[in-house]
Amino acid sequence: MRMFSFCLFLFIQLSGIIHICGGGLAGTALKHFVKCPARQMHMDVSKMDVHFHDFHRGKSKVFPIDKAAKGILSFDRLDKNKKFYMFVHGFATYINHTTADLVRRTFKAVPNSYLILIDHSHYTNHYDGLKKSYRRSVKHVYSIGVQLAHMLAQLNNGGINPKRIHAIGHSLGGQILGHVGHNFIKLTNGKKIARITALDPAGPCFSDSPKEEQIRAGVADYVEVYHCDDGALGTKSVLGDTDFFVNKGSAQPQCKSTMVSNKCSHNICVSMWMASVAHRNWFPARNCDKYKLFKNWSCVSNKKTNAGFWNPGTAKGVYFFSTKGHNF
Ligand SMILES: *[C@@H]1O[C@H](CO)[C@@H](O)[C@H](O)[C@H]1NC(C)=O
Ligand SMILES: *[C@@H]1O[C@H](CO)[C@@H](O)[C@H](O)[C@H]1NC(C)=O
Repeated sequence: MRMFSFCLFLFIQLSGIIHICGGGLAGTALKHFVKCPARQMHMDVSKMDVHFHDFHRGKSKVFPIDKAAKGILSFDRLDKNKKFYMFVHGFATYINHTTADLVRRTFKAVPNSYLILIDHSHYTNHYDGLKKSYRRSVKHVYSIGVQLAHMLAQLNNGGINPKRIHAIGHSLGGQILGHVGHNFIKLTNGKKIARITALDPAGPCFSDSPKEEQIRAGVADYVEVYHCDDGALGTKSVLGDTDFFVNKGSAQPQCKSTMVSNKCSHNICVSMWMASVAHRNWFPARNCDKYKLFKNWSCVSNKKTNAGFWNPGTAKGVYFFSTKGHNF
């Protein structure tokens, strides 16, 4: 507990743990601050909402989770051959927050697709007099994942090919997708959704958990994980088919020297990835074991891939890329 004499930690909000220490130390200290709940399998998550967007035709509808699959399948002139992007947000946010706005704006520009935006804020933010609590949120992660897997399995039964489903999650949403993918496989006798993108999947209460409690390779045809606040608000585990370390994986350049650097780095993962939708070649990445080696050009002749939305999904292992020169 000696670290407390060196560091000043303030809890402003769940995703906003402000600290003035290094990332590794923050990760260690977080364990002492967040009392992690035991795993809960049967939480009531019936108050989740599903926002379905058909941007091409300018139509949107909100469904309660238990009616969502039916609602989507009977949506006016639904074309099951389009792509279905599902976004799952993180802790302490809501459907009209700037993050959700960015997601809507981004996918509005993606042709031949629909957006399924999940709202689980009833369990993960202030709601009806309930105060937001990271502990309460973590308790609901498994059940939220199971409910979403049920919805996707119903969509599959209704004729939507899981190969057309790409799920993207930030923070707690990234960890939720581990349960979505795993339970979708169980519910469909072995089918997998095409792709899962986990943007800085949550660290506190997950970093030291077994892999089965985190997003991981195998729960979709292809799982990619982006690390932006590695070892603090984001998990320190290497989990996906491909793990991308953004710059050094923590302390993002736009965020340095601010008091809220962890939260900033954690959230910039979303802006970075959403920016890649419109900029196909912004983030060439190199297979590399360590940032040090990436930084001193030791990995320049290693395997290369493209990080972000246009990632072809063929690379395996740990990759690094720089965001230098790009504004997002
Ligand atoms: C979000 O914004 C829309 C449009 O302004 C509004 O109709 C809706 O009630 C808002 N929802 C919440 C939960 O604040
Ligand atoms: C890069 O850094 C690594 C680790 O510090 C070192 O072993 C290696 O020699 C360096 N390579 C170059 C080209 O400087």
